[in-house]
Amino acid sequence: MVKQVIKKLLGEKNTDRIRRLKTSIDAAKSTWHNLSTPQSTRDRLNLSQLMSVHMLEKAMVVGNTKYLSAVKYPALIDSVTRLIDMGVPPDDYTVSESIAVIRSALAALPGHEDAKSQLEALVAKYSIPQNFRGGMEVIPSTEILSHTNFDFHAFVSSRRSVRKFKDKIISREVIYDIVRDALYCPSACNRQPFKVYFSEEREKIAKIIKATPDQFITSGFHDCLIVTCDRVLLSPAELDDQEYINGGIFLGYLVLSIHAHGLGSCLCQFLQKDRRQEKVKRSFGISDSEVIVCFVGIGELEDEVSFACSQRRPVETVAISLDS
Ligand SMILES: Cc1cc2nc3c(=O)[nH]c(=O)nc-3n(C[C@H](O)[C@H](O)[C@H](O)COP(=O)(O)O)c2cc1C
Repeated sequence: MVKQVIKKLLGEKNTDRIRRLKTSIDAAKSTWHNLSTPQSTRDRLNLSQLMSVHMLEKAMVVGNTKYLSAVKYPALIDSVTRLIDMGVPPDDYTVSESIAVIRSALAALPGHEDAKSQLEALVAKYSIPQNFRGGMEVIPSTEILSHTNFDFHAFVSSRRSVRKFKDKIISREVIYDIVRDALYCPSACNRQPFKVYFSEEREKIAKIIKATPDQFITSGFHDCLIVTCDRVLLSPAELDDQEYINGGIFLGYLVLSIHAHGLGSCLCQFLQKDRRQEKVKRSFGISDSEVIVCFVGIGELEDEVSFACSQRRPVETVAISLDS
C-alpha cells in the first residue's frame, strides 16, 4: 500500500530509476564485500578477474608488444600464488589458465628471466597441471572453413521453441555435453560468467518448473534448467549490463546446442526486477552474487511437435544499410 502511494507520487519512470540505482548499489556493495573477504570463494574469483590475464592473450593476437613488455609479471605471478595460498586448488581452472597464459606471454618476450624462473618455481612447487592452452594460436583458415560446409540455415531454422515434451528427465551426461558445446559462445574478456543449474530428481525438477515465471506454458515441461550469470566474474563497471549481454549470448548457444543434441527447448525469461529473484535463488542454493537470467524448458521431442509460427521480420527491416 505504502509502496503504491510512493510509486504514484514519484511516477513510474522515477520509481524505476530508483530501483535500478538501488540494484547497482547492492551489486557494488556485494562486489566490494567479496573483494574484502579473503576466505570466500568469491574473493578468489574476483582476484582472477583482477588479474585479467586475457588481456595478455589479446595483446599477443594483435602484436601489441608495448603492452606485453610493460606488464608486471612478478606481481601477476604473485596473484596466482595468493590464489593458491587462499585455498584455490592448484588444478583449478583459474590457476591453470593464468599460468598457461603468463607462460606463453613470457615465452614471446626476451629477458624477464626472473619472472620466468618465478613462474616455473610456482608450477613445480604446487605441481600445477599444464594441460591448458594459453596465449595465441595460429592455424590455417582452411581448417576453420572446413567446418562451415553444412546447411546452417536448415539447422537454425529447424530449431523452434518447444513447449510440450516427452515425460523424461535429461541425464547429467547429456546436460554436460550440451553445456560443454554452449560454452564455445563468446563472452566479454572470456569471463564465462554463466552457470546452468539442473537436477535429475523428479521432485526437484518439479520445484524448478514451479518457479518458472511463465506458468502459462509449463504444463508440458518435465525438465527445466536455470541459467544464471555470476556478477562476481564481472568488473563493477560491467554490472547491470554484462549479465544480460553475456547471459543472452550464452542462451543463444545453449538452445542451439540443445537442438544439435536432438532435444527441444523453450526459454522462459526471468526479469531482474522480478521480486522472486532472491526467493528463487535461496530455494535452490544459488549464490547472492548470481542473477537468474532465464529458465530453459528442455526435453525429448514428442512424435509430433506443435510450435508457434513466430514469423520472422523481413530481413531488410532488421539489416539496415547505412549507404545511400
Ligand atoms: C529472452 C527470451 C525469453 C523468452 N521467454 C519466453 C517465455 O517466457 N515464454 C515462452 O513461451 N516463450 C518464451 N520465449 C520464446 C519466444 O517466444 C520464441 O523464441 C519466439 O517466439 C521465436 O519462436 P521460436 O523460438 O519457436 O523460433 C523467450 C525467448 C527469449 C529469447
